[in-house]
Amino acid sequence: MQQFAGTFIKDVNLGVLLIDHNFLLVDISDTACRILGVDKDAVINRSMDDVFCMVPKEHRLVQRTLLDGVEARNQAASWTNDSARFELLMDSSLLRNEAGEIVGAYVIFKDVTNIRSLEQQVQRSDRLAMIGQIAAGTAHEIRNPLTSIKGFLQVLNRQFVTMGMEKEQGYTELMLSEIDRINELVNEFLLLSKPKHVSFDRIDLSSVLREVLPIINNQATLHNVTICYQSVYRLPLVIADQALLKQVFINLCKNGIEAMVAGGTLTIIERVSFTDNKVHIDIHDAGPGIPAFLIDKIFDPFFTTKETGTGLGLSVCQRIVHDLGGQIRVSSKGFGTTFTVTIPIAR
Ligand SMILES: Nc1ncnc2c1ncn2[C@@H]1O[C@H](COP(=O)(O)OP(=O)(O)OP(=O)(O)O)[C@@H](O)[C@H]1O
Ligand SMILES: [Mg+2]
Repeated sequence: MQQFAGTFIKDVNLGVLLIDHNFLLVDISDTACRILGVDKDAVINRSMDDVFCMVPKEHRLVQRTLLDGVEARNQAASWTNDSARFELLMDSSLLRNEAGEIVGAYVIFKDVTNIRSLEQQVQRSDRLAMIGQIAAGTAHEIRNPLTSIKGFLQVLNRQFVTMGMEKEQGYTELMLSEIDRINELVNEFLLLSKPKHVSFDRIDLSSVLREVLPIINNQATLHNVTICYQSVYRLPLVIADQALLKQVFINLCKNGIEAMVAGGTLTIIERVSFTDNKVHIDIHDAGPGIPAFLIDKIFDPFFTTKETGTGLGLSVCQRIVHDLGGQIRVSSKGFGTTFTVTIPIAR
């Protein structure tokens, strides 16, 4: 039995920790070492308090109260070691001897990171689908009255011009430009619900980027930001939709520029990876970065930290890039943020 227990703890695909009544770590499975990012020889027979001294008490996976009989069943926990973040499902319980005295405790946990991220993906696309339905329904209804308001305003505007009523003319022009803003918003809604015409053409991403650069430069100057564009000579063509991709790059660059409140450089880099036949576009800013607890949320529709933001920018980008068979990734480690758009190369 002892031999079996030894082999079991070593090889089992579960995190297992055995703790004695003094809170010393008696044994640990290889899986637990891997996930927790510890070396077995360095931690065995040491106090759990020492082993996890670098983690704040309230965030430790195993609490001393375990020995007081605070047991756990299917308790969700997350753990970040140096290289990755894990979602865990944990059980813990006391170990008693034949006389019923507490001699220690065990903790078992399973790595459910994949399942959890799948769940989140499903939730996210559920939410997107729901918003899509609402959007498609309302957008149409908003547009119709807008069209007639806009039409009559244009008539009024013309009349004010001929009558030389400059102040009134100014008002109507302001109203017209606000209506255009509403229209743009409605268009974004419609994109969320499902892009109507995704065309799949052979296009050169460099030329798409060159076309949006003037727009981005304009934004950048307003925010004291400089643009650095690193182009690849003869970038392989990709199959995508030029107009939609423009929107993606404008949105991502706009976010980068808005993140650099104190100015700085926004870098756009083209990369080709022939191993997996993809073109990558990195959009890197030197802003404050995105805190780890927000990074899962930024692609959600309506998630925004900006006073005047709609929070639709990134969800529209994600929708478009996914529809084109590509991927959009974000990496932000404390300082600066990089969004990477990946599109397959055309055969
Ligand atoms: N480059 C970035 N640096 C830091 N935070 C970012 C960056 N890009 C996005 N974010 C965060 O993600 C949130 C969502 O971005 P998203 O583009 O979807 O909406 P928004 O920019 O707030 O509003 P909108 O794009 O509609 O104007 C932002 O509010 C911001 O908190
Ligand atoms: Mg945005």
